[in-house]
Parts: sequence; structure tokens; C-alpha cells
Amino acid sequence: MIVVVIGVAGSGKSTIGPMLARAMSCEFLEGDSLHPPANIEKMSRGTPLDDDDRGPWLSAIHSIIADADKRGVSLVVACSALKQSYREILSSGVFIRGPHDADYASWGGINWVYLKASKEILRRRLQERTTHFMKAGMLDSQLDAFEEPSNAIVIDAAAPPDAILERILGLLVEVRVVADLDAISAQAASAAVDIINGAVAARGRCSLALSGGDTPRGLHRLLGSQHREHIPWERVHIFWGDERYVPADHPESNYRMARETLLFHVPCPPENIHAMPTHLSAAAEAAATYDKVLKEFFGGGDGPAFDLNVLGIGEDAHTASVFPWSPAVDERARWVMNVQAKAAIATRLTLTLPALSRSVNIQVLVAGPRKASAVRDALAIDANPRRYPASGIRRGRGVVWWVDSAAAEGLVD
Ligand code: 6PG
Repeated sequence: MIVVVIGVAGSGKSTIGPMLARAMSCEFLEGDSLHPPANIEKMSRGTPLDDDDRGPWLSAIHSIIADADKRGVSLVVACSALKQSYREILSSGVFIRGPHDADYASWGGINWVYLKASKEILRRRLQERTTHFMKAGMLDSQLDAFEEPSNAIVIDAAAPPDAILERILGLLVEVRVVADLDAISAQAASAAVDIINGAVAARGRCSLALSGGDTPRGLHRLLGSQHREHIPWERVHIFWGDERYVPADHPESNYRMARETLLFHVPCPPENIHAMPTHLSAAAEAAATYDKVLKEFFGGGDGPAFDLNVLGIGEDAHTASVFPWSPAVDERARWVMNVQAKAAIATRLTLTLPALSRSVNIQVLVAGPRKASAVRDALAIDANPRRYPASGIRRGRGVVWWVDSAAAEGLVD
């Protein structure tokens, strides 16, 4: 994950940046360390830099960012990045058009973190600094040059550093761009094996929630073949994030799809397979029943803490069976709801967004050019979950979006 912490002088980039890098166990790059001596000398004289001065400096930072993306490692950068054109230099096209192959997953763009503070706070901080070349008198020129970023995590820079760090960590999103659906399946399967075994080692069991649709089929097949022997299936409990309200043997049943692509091929005990009860006469009763199943398994709490929840999104940015403008989007109390969807099978059961987001690990799998706009809209920092329900999937630690190049097109800055 590449994170660039931006803001004018005095906003706290050089304090928060290293803290964030430590929390992410990755390298930190202090952008100011790459200024050529001429720039330092100019700023020390109290003369603001211009675009020509900043060009080579930004290119030097971009090279390091591009290298980290190429190596597939995370990196935190502190850089004022005052203008949108500067931010485009830093993010120029490396992340999605890399030399994709099954082993190479590029980052799906930069996570921009904007430390925002009042002029008064900024001025006071600069006046208190004695060693830094950026003097308080330069603040006005920085503020005049600064262009508010359009898709950044905006942080109140006046908050305590630890609070700032926690807020940032809760809002970052890891987007890994790979060549195609086969690569998504391979990478997600490998991640799933690690998560499942980690959960079993820590808690003696793993709770895995599956999605429907076509995208997860490849993942299922790999877990039931290549990785079959790497997973202690007798310790794995299988749930669903949503289900079409059809019999279990119906062609449109998510349970049936999972049975054919995974469950038939692995020794998961029948008592560990918790299908949604679509045999009940009323969907509302089925939703309440499954809500109780989950609460009994997880012992209550504020949601089902699946060790791994595999989700997809639709072209309209729905996820599970939470569709745009549906009542399910606003549900905060119930974990499971029955809904009427604008889809081939209208009656459905679905976990709600808070329930889906309670998972310890979430892997969102998205492939194909027809989902590019849904990916872009769902990942926009200011997205409206009512319009783009997938944007209501929690961000932060444990969440990875696996996106193929075609679906990542919308992420190009
Ligand atoms: C469902 C799924 C649904 C799915 C998306 C993507 O029951 O249909 O849970 O949310 O993940 O619609 O479907 P595809 O993978 O077929 O594109």
C-alpha cells in the first residue's frame, strides 16, 4: 500500500509519516530529504519555490514510489504535494499498468492523506520550529499554492498524533491490481489459506463467509483442489453473506454454487456448513433464523466477526444483496435482512453493511471492465453508500480489494 501524507508546512507530515510507517511495518520517505541544495537554499532565504524548482524534486520522489510499487512493498511518503498537478506526477500511471503477471500485483493507486489545520495553528507551529528551512513567512505562499485534493482522507491535523494515526489506519484501503480473474483467484486463495490457518491456530476454528455470483468460482475451485490439503477443513465453518430465496438445489442458489465448486470437494463436516434457511416459507422468518444462527455462533456482540468474508460487487456497486437505495443500506441493528432486489431473483437474504464490515478479514474480488466505474465509485473516499453500497464495506486493516486491470481502469488518478 502506498500512502502519501500531504499538506502545507507545519501540518505534521514529518511527525505522522514515520508513525504511520511504523504502524504499517514499512519504509518511510521524507520527501523534503530529496530537495536539491538549490531548493533548500532558496527556501532558507524565504523565497517560495516555483513549479520548475519542484519538478525534479517530485520526479525523484515518484521514482521511489514507482520502485516500491514495482517491488510490491508498502511505502509511506511525506510530501507537501501542494497542487493536483504535483500529485499527478507522484501517481503517474505506474500502479495499474505495471507488467502484470500472476506473481505481480501492483497497488491500485495512492492512498492520499491530507493533514488539514487552520492558518493560526500552522503559523504557531512554524514559529516554534527553529531548525527547519521552511520559515513561518513562507506559510502564506504555501497556502496560496495549495489545491485541496479531491479524493483524499482528510484529517484534522490539530488532533493528537495517536488519534490521527488511528483514524488514518481505519480509513486506508489496500487495493491490489492483478492481470485477470485467474490471478485474482490465485492471490485470494493464497491469502485465504493463510487467514484460515491463522484463525485455526489462534482460536481453534475459522469462520468463512462466502458470496454468490460468478467471480468467486475460481477461488472456490482452488481452495478445493490445489489448496485442499493446506486447510484443516474439519475446523472451518462456512456461512454466506447473502442468498437468493430459492431452494438449495436451484441453479441460482449461492449455496448450490459453493457446493459444486467447493463443498463437494473438501471434508468440511456437514454440521459446519451453515446455509441460509431458504426452505422456510417466509423470507422474513429465514432472515430472523439466520440472524439467530450467527448470534449463537459468535456469541452476540456487535456483528459476526467472520475470520474471512469474501465479497463481490455488482456493476451498480451493490455488495452481497445490499442494493442501491434499498432499505438494507440504512439498517444498523439487524445482522440479516430479507430484501426485494432489482435482480433476476428478487427475494433475497443478506447480511447488512455493519454485519458484513464486522469481519476480521474482508477480501473483495472484482473483475472485468464493466465493473470499473463501480470500483472507482465504491472506493471514493466521499462515496454515498446509499448509491454505492459497496462503499459501505469497512476500510482499514484486514480489508483487501483484489481487482483485475480491467476493473481497475477507473482508479487511474
Ligand atoms: C450474489 C452476490 C453478489 C455478487 C455480485 C457480483 O448473490 O449475487 O453475493 O453480491 O457478489 O453481484 O456478482 P458476479 O461475481 O457474478 O459479477
